[in-house]
Amino acid sequence: MLILKVLGIETSCDETAAAVVADGTKILSSVVSSQIEVHRPYGGVVPELASRKHLEAIVPVVDEAISRSGVALKQIDAIAVTRGPGLIGALLIGFSFAKAYAFALDLPLTGVNHLAGHIHSVFLEPDPPPFPFVALLASGGHTNVYHVISHTELELMGQTRDDAAGEAFDKVAKMLGLGYPGGGVIDRLSKEGDPDKIIFPRAYLDKSGFDFSFSGLKTSVNRYIQTHEDEYQNQIPDIVAGFREAVVDVLSYKIINAAIKKGCRHIAIVGGVAANKRLREKVRQDAEEKKIKVHIPCFHLCGDNAAMIAAAGYHYLTNGGVSDMNTDVYSRVL
Ligand code: KG4
Ligand code: ZN
Repeated sequence: MLILKVLGIETSCDETAAAVVADGTKILSSVVSSQIEVHRPYGGVVPELASRKHLEAIVPVVDEAISRSGVALKQIDAIAVTRGPGLIGALLIGFSFAKAYAFALDLPLTGVNHLAGHIHSVFLEPDPPPFPFVALLASGGHTNVYHVISHTELELMGQTRDDAAGEAFDKVAKMLGLGYPGGGVIDRLSKEGDPDKIIFPRAYLDKSGFDFSFSGLKTSVNRYIQTHEDEYQNQIPDIVAGFREAVVDVLSYKIINAAIKKGCRHIAIVGGVAANKRLREKVRQDAEEKKIKVHIPCFHLCGDNAAMIAAAGYHYLTNGGVSDMNTDVYSRVL
């Protein structure tokens, strides 16, 4: 089957997204409708509100992606849609829409793993990594290290045992009253702080393994706030800079070691946390010393988007991974 133009659809969390991608590499259009403003007052994603907003946005977002792509609907060759993991109600909106659309247009449909989608964001950039490579996926829900063997084979080498890295950013921001989501604001404020002034613990766990733990670090920031009740408000840039450095040190250490363990000369950093400026800088510095090449997508491809789903879906389809009308979504990794 020769698949050229894939319509991607993503609704796993709080972004309604659609994109048209040619040959799994070239973005013809990518539309992302964010619900951040809806969830901000609650300090996190409210699943029921997310589902309702996806329902309102899905048709206009898909229409917009098709019209911006310059491709006529009848020239779309297949549909790729996020199947999981994610919020079940949110996933169901995109998945049910995609099933109906594929049925009506008589197009092949493939259900894509959201995490494999994030990894495919690097294939939308020029000069993608050759196989095999190692990938760090750090987002609001996951902190996973993979040995990526091919477009369809991922070996999980390690993961967080408690909070995800992005979740730690969000929770620390909430403790300090910095709003939601926390990653971007902590990144910005850290520039004004000194990362060596307040040293927070680094949880390497087993130094030769690839699991993570961020809940101790989060507790440690909380304890600092409680024990410095009178002055912490004046130290926020130093607190967040110290926190960011602790997260980045561990992420960089583990992914470089994963590459060394697997004998890989290429690393990919993907997911919302890959937008972190210090992480991008530190991994590049550490990798250079080891002569390892780092691949990080541009900022708008780090967070949730549908172009990465279309890119992964292209490879599922060319490997025979077609879903049918009985395929269902899943909230956790199968
Ligand atoms: O991949 P993503 O958009 O959604 C999930 O699949 O979870 O990731 C969202 C996460 C949030 O926790 C957000 O705080 C974090 O990515 N994030 C960042 C930055 N920008 C977004 N974390 C650290 N630094 C950033 N600059
Ligand atoms: Zn994601």
